[in-house]
Amino acid sequence: MKSIQSNIKKAKKYLDKNQCIAVPTETVYGLAANAYSNVSVKRIFKLKKRPANNPLIVHYSDINKLKNDCYINDDFIKLYRKLSPGPITFILKLKKVSKISKFVTNKQNTLAVRFPKHPLFKRLLKSLKYPLAAPSANMSTRLSSVKASDVIEEFGSKIKYVLDGGKCLIGLESTIINLLKKPTILRFGALDVSKIEKILKKRVLIKTNSKKKIAPGQFPLHYSPGIPLRTNAKKPKKNEAFVLVKKRKSTMKNYYYLSKNNNLQQSAKNLYSLLRKIKNDGYKMIAVEKIQNKGIGKTINDRLNRASKY
Ligand code: TXA
Ligand code: MG
Repeated sequence: MKSIQSNIKKAKKYLDKNQCIAVPTETVYGLAANAYSNVSVKRIFKLKKRPANNPLIVHYSDINKLKNDCYINDDFIKLYRKLSPGPITFILKLKKVSKISKFVTNKQNTLAVRFPKHPLFKRLLKSLKYPLAAPSANMSTRLSSVKASDVIEEFGSKIKYVLDGGKCLIGLESTIINLLKKPTILRFGALDVSKIEKILKKRVLIKTNSKKKIAPGQFPLHYSPGIPLRTNAKKPKKNEAFVLVKKRKSTMKNYYYLSKNNNLQQSAKNLYSLLRKIKNDGYKMIAVEKIQNKGIGKTINDRLNRASKY
């Protein structure tokens, strides 16, 4: 308990000095900095090597603080009441009076906002006078981090501090929904779209693959382990690692299990760490067996398909 308090104090100290630190969330680790400070936000982009035209998600402890920065609407209220804190990100209209750094939004008039559930991150947010801009804590286009050691692997000594909150419970990023007009999913994520439709009592649009060359949330190459990956594989080729979700009779050195009984939640939780492990074990190619395209399986397939563009 005492060490938790002192870790949060330490994290706050770095943030108050405009530094970036890594924070745990229930989805993936974030690379966080003061969303009201240009200096802080610019550091995030530099550290991640992220293109300036790819805006960031801003994390809040509660709706009252959000109201300083964004206009809210009925759909938002309904979803917020049932799903926040949790793995959903809302795109809302930014207020002109907001103090959000123009580097967060790339000068657009919309803002992505999220209320994370991880208890450490929540306590940290409550202790601050500003919200935190935080993209996933990985180099641009690479696999997200789900453990403190992944963050160190990505950034080494360039990261000043990692608030260690253990392994992320979900392991895949939040679902992103644009609430400016007709609710539209921009990124499949940890939260099932059917849950959102039940709460809103209407169908939502799905636009996870924009035709535009660069559309926020929809960059074509993403989530890549840095080596070629193919999906829907029936068997591995020579020298390929084989990622499986159902137990095989035989044991082979190159077999890696996301789950042994086709459990999709478990597969989601293991996905990024397993791909990282395969790369670190020295494989140069990955084959993944077919994964059911339902529930969070849709998000797993979305990430694998983008990773396969490498
Ligand atoms: O689970 C998550 O969402 C994690 C944790 C750390 O909160 N964050 C995360 O951030 O995945 P990032 O930066 O890796 O992905 C955020 C996505 C980007 O693809 C970005 O283009 C999109 O959100 N985005 C941010 N602001 C947006 C906006 N105003 N309109 C549309 N898309 C936006
Ligand atoms: Mg990311």
